[in-house]
Amino acid sequence: MSDIKTLGEFIIEKQNDFPHASGDLSSLLASIKLAAKIVNREINKAGLMDITGAVGKENIQGEQQQKLDLFANEKFKAALESHAQVCGIASEEEDEVVVFSKEQNRNAKYVVLIDPLDGSSNIDVNASVGTIFSIYRRLSPVGSPATEEDFLQPGNCQIAAGYVIYGSSTMLVYTTGKGVHGFTYDPSLGVFCLSHENIQISEHGSCYSTNEGNYIRFPTGVKKYIKYCQENVPEDNRPYTSRYIGSLISDLHRNLLKGGIYLYPSTAAYPEGKLRLLYECNPMAFIMEQAGGKACNGAERILDITPTSLHQRMPFFAGSGAMINTLEQFLAEPE
Ligand code: AHG
Ligand code: MN
Ligand code: MN
Ligand code: MN
Repeated sequence: MSDIKTLGEFIIEKQNDFPHASGDLSSLLASIKLAAKIVNREINKAGLMDITGAVGKENIQGEQQQKLDLFANEKFKAALESHAQVCGIASEEEDEVVVFSKEQNRNAKYVVLIDPLDGSSNIDVNASVGTIFSIYRRLSPVGSPATEEDFLQPGNCQIAAGYVIYGSSTMLVYTTGKGVHGFTYDPSLGVFCLSHENIQISEHGSCYSTNEGNYIRFPTGVKKYIKYCQENVPEDNRPYTSRYIGSLISDLHRNLLKGGIYLYPSTAAYPEGKLRLLYECNPMAFIMEQAGGKACNGAERILDITPTSLHQRMPFFAGSGAMINTLEQFLAEPE
């Protein structure tokens, strides 16, 4: 028992890693932890209750909202509002930024961006889903209401980011820019326990993850790279293994631990890419880089992109450094 270290204890131990006031991160993560436990509880019994399926409404991006998308959104919103560290949130499931109006929130220093439930299409089939979060220091003056500008900062301004994966076990993984740490939820104790300290992705991997159903409309460089992954070159571990769940978190979590590359380029249905820069690409790019990997949109490092709108989409490639380097060589070749 004495070896168990909880997320709360770990954060206190590492609080100098958070470049701002001590206690802020621990308080902010406490609200994320609480909402994650509530969402985890509901997801665990989803098959028994009438909480799967669509609600019959679309979000601003034209996606069918699932009951659990909205449930998770409400829980994270309420948990973040009830803590005095956050002046507003932006969410995949909200049209506009949500400005918290209470005085304690107006005096808060941080904004949080969330994908409350990632991998919605997997909810009804009992496959892993997750929550992604990204934290920035606000730009607007403390004491005033949060503004949209607070949320449109490049990813390299993130002060923390992380995800919760509701999988065969539930895990919370986060970074404050000093490495990546993972905690596994022990439901009998109701706490997240340190299980993966200082996660590092291997420089080379042998797994590629993409929705190959879209292959015919992939950019030429991506098509060539996929063929390269499939070539028979045993001394280079090729052909690589193909693994694709269809939940960004699950696909990236596996590749983070085992090595690999994730690709979501532009497609016919999504000419700008499908994944959302603010709620998906930036936090996952921050984690990937902190674990020693790379993340780009094919032309630029994800974290250097200045967002132009809240729900902006972006092509997204992330994973083992050497694999991204090879991909970039294919993308740079003339067509
Ligand atoms: P969300 O469920 O938050 O809308 O995200 C869905 C995303 C991401 O999780 C996943 O990697 C990708 O969509 C899967 O897209 P395809 O079904 O087009 O492969
Ligand atoms: Mn969605
Ligand atoms: Mn998502
Ligand atoms: Mn989502």
